[in-house]
Amino acid sequence: MVKSLNIAHRGFSGKYPENTMIAFRKAVEAGCDGIETDVHITKDGAIVVCHDEMVYRTTNGQGSIKDLTYDEIKKLDAGIKFGEEFKNTSIPDIDEFMDYVKDKNLLVNIELKNGIINYKNLEKRIIEKIYEYGLKDNVILSSFNHYSMVKVKEIDSSIKTGLLYAANIYKVHEYAQKVSADALHPYFPSVMNEDIVKEIKDSNIAINTYTVNEEKYMRRLMELGIDGIITNYPDVLKRIIDESERIVV
Ligand code: G3P
Ligand code: MG
Repeated sequence: MVKSLNIAHRGFSGKYPENTMIAFRKAVEAGCDGIETDVHITKDGAIVVCHDEMVYRTTNGQGSIKDLTYDEIKKLDAGIKFGEEFKNTSIPDIDEFMDYVKDKNLLVNIELKNGIINYKNLEKRIIEKIYEYGLKDNVILSSFNHYSMVKVKEIDSSIKTGLLYAANIYKVHEYAQKVSADALHPYFPSVMNEDIVKEIKDSNIAINTYTVNEEKYMRRLMELGIDGIITNYPDVLKRIIDESERIVV
């Protein structure tokens, strides 16, 4: 059986406040092989790590990241809504995140959150950061905005891209080749099918599925030879991967 990579979705977001440094540290402690995170740009041009366009769900603040300055964002508490014990946890900026992952030999999946807001030069600026931190071999960029993934390839064809999608796209491997993507990042039910997985893998395109939190689906996707499994529970997936390796031996 091909070993699937254990990719922590927004860090260890099942047990810690999503997209925060503690969630990233705890994911690494749990034995993940990679981290998935999401990025936006503030009103004054800082790249920050957060899932939503707006801050009200995950922090004690209000408003959209694009309308808030970096200083305003940094004052928000991104832990308190998850639990009192996480009080005074801040939204990380891209440098805190990259500085943390740079020497850990992780797969780093940075999702550009530019499906709703087309942040100016986000692609170019993230690519510059990838080089600044020497993370080219580790990073795969992804987005639901496939125009953005084409733009990444136009800027630098050696940067890896993954196409996020949730539908059952017909001959999706042909589409991926058309836009020069290195990987597909489907919502996992779209690839729970041996023939579809085979077509994609025969085209030399990797598959990293989101968001897989139930053990039975983790096991099935591993049997199918999925390259990367994005999960809120890297501890559970680590146990399942370790068990499957013991069975093979
Ligand atoms: O990148 C996988 C997954 O994060 C995509 O959806 O909404 O959780 O960012 P979302
Ligand atoms: Mg994401």
